This record gives sequence, C-alpha cells and structure tokens, in this order.
Amino acid sequence: MSATSPLSPPPDAEALLTRHSTTLHSYFQSALARYTAAPPRLMESIAYSLYAGGKRLRPALILESCRACGGDASAMEAAMAGAAAMELIHTFSLVHDDLPAMDNDDLRRGRPTNHKVYGEAMAILAGDAMMTIAFELLAETVPSPTSVSMIRELAANSGPCGMIGGQVLDMDGETRRLKLDELQHLHRLKTGALLTCSCRLGAIAAGVDQQMLSRLSDFGRHLGLAFQIVDDILDETSTPEQMGKATKKDAAKGKNTYPVLLGLEGSQAEANNALAAALDAITPLGDRARPLEAIARFVVERTH
Ligand code: IPE
Ligand code: IPE
Ligand code: MG
Ligand code: MG
Ligand code: MG
Repeated sequence: MSATSPLSPPPDAEALLTRHSTTLHSYFQSALARYTAAPPRLMESIAYSLYAGGKRLRPALILESCRACGGDASAMEAAMAGAAAMELIHTFSLVHDDLPAMDNDDLRRGRPTNHKVYGEAMAILAGDAMMTIAFELLAETVPSPTSVSMIRELAANSGPCGMIGGQVLDMDGETRRLKLDELQHLHRLKTGALLTCSCRLGAIAAGVDQQMLSRLSDFGRHLGLAFQIVDDILDETSTPEQMGKATKKDAAKGKNTYPVLLGLEGSQAEANNALAAALDAITPLGDRARPLEAIARFVVERTH
C-alpha cells in the first residue's frame, strides 16, 4: 500500500464479533471437556454463564490486536488461548458482580443470574473455578516464555491493582460521592484494566516490540474508559430487553457514574473524546487496524 492510498472502510463490527464468538464457543467446548472428574453441577454452573452469550468484546480485541500486530498462525493460536482465558475471567467477574453482596442483580446476558439458578455458594465457586481454568489454559496451551508473559499480564490486570481493585473502589464509592478524577480511576481499574489487557495480550502473542505494545496499550486504555462511560449511559437510557441485564439501577444504588457527574450529554462527549484518542493511537497501523477501529466505534455507538 502506498502512503497516499486511501484506507479501506472499517468492517462491520457486529459481524466480526459474531464470527469470533462462534470460534470461541467451539474452543470453550473442547477446553472444558477435559474436566470430566469435576462435580457436574459446578461445570453446569460455569457453562450456564459462559455460554449465555455476551458480546465477546474482549476476545475480539485480543484476536484483532494480534492480527493488527502481524501475528502469524502460531501467534493467533496463543491469542485464541488468551481470548478464552480473558473471557473466563470476565465472566467470573460478572457472576460475582451480580451477587447479593455486590450489585445484587437478577438478570445477566438475558438470563437469570448464576446465583439465582445455582445458589450463592455455587456462583462464588463457579467464579473461582473460571479464574483457575483461565490460568491453567494459558499455562498448558501457550509455549513459554510467551505463556509466562501472558499469565503475568492477565493476573496483574485482573488483580488488586486491576479489575478486582476497581470493584472494591466501586463498592466503597456507594457510600460517598467521588470527584471526576476518582471516578475515572475507578473506571480505568474495574473495566479499563481488562480491556487494556486484551489489546496487550494480542500484541504479546504476536511478539511485538515495546513501541507497538505501547500503541496497543494506549488504544486499550482510552477504549476501556469509553466502554465504561457508555455502560453508565446505557444503564440510564436503555432497557433490560436491549441490554440483557437490569437497567436504571446505578442511580438507585447510589453508584458513582459519569451521567451523575456530567449528565448524559457531557458523558457522551467524554466517551467520544476517549474514542478519538483510542483511534489516534492506532492510526499509524493503517489498514491492519481497521477491525480494531470498527470494534472501537461499536463500543461507543452500541445500544446493547
Ligand atoms: C459488562 O461487560 C460489565 C462491564 C464491565 C460494564 P460487557 O458489556 O462486555 O458484558 P458482556 O460480556 O457483553 O455480557
Ligand atoms: C462491573 O461493572 C464491572 C465488572 C464486572 C468488573 P458494572 O457493575 O457497571 O457492570 P454491569 O452494569 O453490572 O454489567
Ligand atoms: Mg458492579
Ligand atoms: Mg453490576
Ligand atoms: Mg454497569
């Protein structure tokens, strides 16, 4: 491609997500088949939440980040293991997020929440097991030293300084009004960490240099913030039918959200700014980053 040739239009994001989602589904089926010695009800509870759908945004980001970084077939295999591990961690975070001790929600991915069907103890244990399966899968599937880097990346972003730390800030925030910079920090941890991690895992699987890794990190960081701002907006403006989860609950629970601090218009403007910053970060990648661009636009324009 010459420097002056126009970029191709971004692909259709929803079609792309559906394609990756189908591949991921088959991957999960063979990955989970090995746990024949596990208690059947535990595996049923895991399958219930894992196969309930979901946008599979994080797996798509991992696979498309790897591709955008020029990953070959073996890199794409490592990325696929990363995609499955990430979706397991994400699904565990949702199952626990819905527990009565946290957001106390009854609907997730269009179905009754895990604890409503299997009970609180099993929901806790299914979440725990999803986390251990995620790391076991990476350790067993991806050759070292890439596996070590991917495990470290996923652990750091899921843990006390990542998603779990963000969930703690979210719970703490229910009893006090946060300032905008505090809320941004909360969002960057509870949601942004796993989105940034997704982009980085794809880049790590592809074996990129530091400069490329930092481009993908910047893209993921801005996109992660945009994603959670839009999640906050949709809680106010969307319906359970569209979202597959309860809406209009954040305000009732006294959650700190962007609309509470900036209003709906101000929040949308912040999401648009974050999207623009995300797209800037991957502009140097040219046509190879078109799928990432499509996913990023979908994140901000989505209605579910
Ligand atoms: C929901 O994430 C939880 C948040 C981080 C806000 P998603 O909107 O990606 O949920 P699924 O995977 O599509 O169900
Ligand atoms: C949840 O944030 C983030 C994680 C699960 C880590 P929310 O509580 O806003 O997610 P929803 O709106 O229930 O999906
Ligand atoms: Mg929550
Ligand atoms: Mg919640
Ligand atoms: Mg929410």
